[in-house]
Amino acid sequence: MDGPSGSGKSSASKGVARALGLRYLDTGAMYRAMTWWMLDQGVPVTDAGQVAARVAEPVIEVGTDPAAPTIAVDGVDVSGPIRTREVTNAVSAVSSVPAVRQRMVALQREVIGAGGIVVEGRDIGTVVVPDAPVKVFLTASEDARAQRRARDLTDDPAATVQVTLAEQARRDRLDSTRTASPLAKAADAHEIDSTDLDLDEVVAEVLRLAKESS
Ligand code: C5P
Repeated sequence: MDGPSGSGKSSASKGVARALGLRYLDTGAMYRAMTWWMLDQGVPVTDAGQVAARVAEPVIEVGTDPAAPTIAVDGVDVSGPIRTREVTNAVSAVSSVPAVRQRMVALQREVIGAGGIVVEGRDIGTVVVPDAPVKVFLTASEDARAQRRARDLTDDPAATVQVTLAEQARRDRLDSTRTASPLAKAADAHEIDSTDLDLDEVVAEVLRLAKESS
C-alpha cells in the first residue's frame, strides 16, 4: 500500500493485516528510524555524502505484529522519538539518499520474505515488491490529510492544521520529485480516494480487492 503522508495508510494496512491474519510492515518507520539515528549522531541530514557514509552503522529491527508493531535502533525502542516534528521534517532528505534506500529496501525484502504481509510506504508497488499480488495506492485531499496528521500530533502545540499542511506539502513534493524511487502509483495499483471514506470503508474495499485477486 503506497500513498502520500496522511492518506490513512497505517491504519488501513494494519486493519487489513489484522482482518486477514497477516504480518504488517511500516517502511516509513524504518526511514524515520534511520533519520532519528542520523540526527542523534549529529550527522547533517542535508549532506547526502555524510549520510551515505554512515548508513551501514545503525542496527534497525522491526516487529511485524499489526496489533503491536515495534521499531528499534541498536536495541533501543524508538517508536516515540521517530514521530517528532524534527524527524518528520528531516526524513525526506535522508530517504532521498540512494545508499539509504538500497539498505532499507534490502532489509524490507528480508522482512517480507515469501509474503503473507501488508507493507506500507511510497515505493512498495513500484520498487520493493513489484510482483505483489494486490497493490493499493491510497490518496485523500490535501486538507483531509493535514487534518488527520494534525490530530496525530496533539502533543505538539505548534502543529496546527495550517503548519501541518505546509510541512506535509513540502514533504510530499520532496518525496514525489526525488530521483531515487519517488512516491508513485504503480501502473497496476488500485487507487482508493479516502477523503470521504472512514477507516472501515477503506479496509472493506482493500479486502474486496484482495478477495478478487485470490
Ligand atoms: O509513512 P511515513 O510518513 O511515516 O514516512 C516517512 C517518510 O519516509 C516519507 O515522507 C518518505 O520520505 C520516506 N519513505 C520513503 N519510502 C517508503 C516509505 C517512507 O521514502 N517506502
